[in-house]
Amino acid sequence: MIEIKKITATETYAVRQPVLRPGKPIESCQFEGDDLKTTTHFGLFKEQTLIGVVSVFEVTHKDFEAKKQFQVRGMAILENEQNKGYGNLLITEVEKLAHKNKIEIIWFNAREKAVNFYQKMGYTILGTLFDIPNVGPHYVMWKQL
Ligand SMILES: CC(C)(COP(=O)(O)OP(=O)(O)OC[C@H]1O[C@@H](n2cnc3c(N)ncnc32)[C@H](O)[C@@H]1OP(=O)(O)O)[C@@H](O)C(=O)NCCC(=O)NCCS
Repeated sequence: MIEIKKITATETYAVRQPVLRPGKPIESCQFEGDDLKTTTHFGLFKEQTLIGVVSVFEVTHKDFEAKKQFQVRGMAILENEQNKGYGNLLITEVEKLAHKNKIEIIWFNAREKAVNFYQKMGYTILGTLFDIPNVGPHYVMWKQL
């Protein structure tokens, strides 16, 4: 059974840590704004076990004029559960929340490796590849709702 629920920032670490910050201290899993009221964290549970997380921040990107923007961060599915459609379910949940909140643009810094996944979900690359220190090469990607 698959269930997507809102969770706390701290609960996301169980997936953020092994997938996005392997070998790095738990503090590296804390993102600025994690505990703001306007931030939402979703967890995907398979048979009551947390296997995927995503976080949504009300942060605007300077290159977009839209007032209402969501930044997606900390998108991760445990390694042995990847490529089974769960990432797709989490992004779909984010888009549902965005529609509810009358958000105009969803954007994020996508790892180069994940670009294909997001393109399949209708997201477009903006600009050129850039480096996030200690994390790796990224593209800004976005979608107009
Ligand atoms: C990227 C990630 C979130 C995608 O979630 P997922 O559950 O594995 O993806 P899904 O199974 O929903 O994939 C949907 C589609 O994208 C494809 N896809 C997924 N990951 C891919 C990748 N790395 N490269 C190319 N295609 C990919 C799948 O094959 C699938 O295609 P299909 O619908 O034609 O079969 C997940 O693989 C992950 O956590 N990766 C490591 C961390 C990461 O890169 N996070 C994103 C940070 S920006």
